[in-house]
Amino acid sequence: MTSTLSHTQPPAKVAVPSYSLVQQDGDHELHLDAFLDQTIGADRHKRPSYSYRNSVPALGELSLAAVCPDGRLLGSLRFWPVELAGGRALLLGPLAVDPTLQGGGIGRALMEQGLHHAQKLGYELCFLVGEPSYYARFGFEAAVPKGYDMIVEVDARKFQVMDLQKKGWEKLPVGTIYPVRD
Ligand SMILES: CC(C)(COP(=O)(O)OP(=O)(O)OC[C@H]1O[C@@H](n2cnc3c(N)ncnc32)[C@H](O)[C@@H]1OP(=O)(O)O)[C@@H](O)C(=O)NCCC(=O)NCCS
Repeated sequence: MTSTLSHTQPPAKVAVPSYSLVQQDGDHELHLDAFLDQTIGADRHKRPSYSYRNSVPALGELSLAAVCPDGRLLGSLRFWPVELAGGRALLLGPLAVDPTLQGGGIGRALMEQGLHHAQKLGYELCFLVGEPSYYARFGFEAAVPKGYDMIVEVDARKFQVMDLQKKGWEKLPVGTIYPVRD
């Protein structure tokens, strides 16, 4: 991914500084754990999605950071590979925005660019565990009624899936998603 979009925010509830969305690199990686502990909580590793993140790294080409010109990290979005019916799919997350800037559109910008790149790379299915009232706006729907499951216990209300290429659910594989083991 070579594109870098600049975002100067429209009027929002919070004053968001000018920032760019860039592919994450080693420098962002250094600050990411502390950033995610601060935004999501240090107990985040107990969440169902983390069962899929131990055996493989996040997909570098889909890892986005929202950064200020001075390099300050404002937001992060990553995707992980998962296996489904012998093929590959995506697990989105964590998505996190600096607590002082939440509600200012950074989350939406990260989601829109991340999903756009995932579509361009040809992925068909993207899963996540999160608040439906936030993710429905991007096209995510409840995964359990469509025949999907996780290897760990998950709140069925929060387990969601998106048909990235708009193929139609009847043309897509179903079943349990598994961690990728390299
Ligand atoms: C969730 C999060 C990533 C959203 O990013 P953001 O930049 O604050 O959100 P945006 O400005 O793009 O969107 C704001 C909208 O999202 C809604 N929203 C924000 N957090 C929400 C949540 N946890 N549940 C439901 N809706 C939420 C706001 O009410 C607002 O709605 P509106 O557009 O109808 O007014 C961010 O608030 C965050 O980092 N939260 C803490 C970490 C977290 O919960 N991550 C998600 C893990 S699943």
